[in-house]
Amino acid sequence: MSTRRKLVVGNWKMYGSRVANAELLGAILGARPFGADVAVCVPFPYLSETAVTLAGSDLRWGAQDVSAHEQGAYTGEVSAAMLHDFGCRYAIVGHSERRAYHAEGDQLVADKAKAALGRGVTPIVCVGETLAQREAGETEAVVKRQLSLVIHTLAHCASEMVVAYEPVWAIGTGRTATPEQAQAVHALLRAQLLAATPHAAVMKILYGGSVKPDNAAALFAQPDIDGGLIGGASLKAADFIAICRAAG
Ligand code: 13P
Repeated sequence: MSTRRKLVVGNWKMYGSRVANAELLGAILGARPFGADVAVCVPFPYLSETAVTLAGSDLRWGAQDVSAHEQGAYTGEVSAAMLHDFGCRYAIVGHSERRAYHAEGDQLVADKAKAALGRGVTPIVCVGETLAQREAGETEAVVKRQLSLVIHTLAHCASEMVVAYEPVWAIGTGRTATPEQAQAVHALLRAQLLAATPHAAVMKILYGGSVKPDNAAALFAQPDIDGGLIGGASLKAADFIAICRAAG
């Protein structure tokens, strides 16, 4: 087992309501302490209420996206400075749903990660291959390409990001990567980070894609898997709490 403390992040995606959020956060707060760091990444409108609910606790919170721009006429965008204004800790960038549905490319993802870090918000940078790419034997090339531009763009700050490996074919499908499949990619990513920064050994690389209470412990036991980015199961209090406990 590595000495890196595990991190479990719930990605609520576009789910929630004020009532449902209060119930979910209340349950998570009540289940502490966890032996791992725990965060929730919530839709933008719920950021401030989440900040108030979690104030004074060790639960962290974040956003699911951030603009690459500092400020300006970018209707609908939310800047890193605005997130920082609320004390936001994390911003997911480059999630495969944003890459697929909003045509986000590697350079934009890298620019968003840089904008976040510039304001003290930790980017959780997502990489991952599609099923077709995996079947074509392209997994390594795809994830390396996705990560390399981020490493290059962040330069000496690269060690401050969190990386999340999320195979697209495992997201929301109930078809999770086996612990061995996930570990193999995590090891590749760690090696790529090591070539760029001496701090790679302490950087967190999360796994995401159909993590559930019954597979979390085996995934988290892998030497280069430092926790999880949890979608569907993060909306169910009992499941999310069980996953956080599996990381402890
Ligand atoms: P699921 O856990 O629902 O597969 O989603 C994973 C994910 O996309 C987290 O960012």
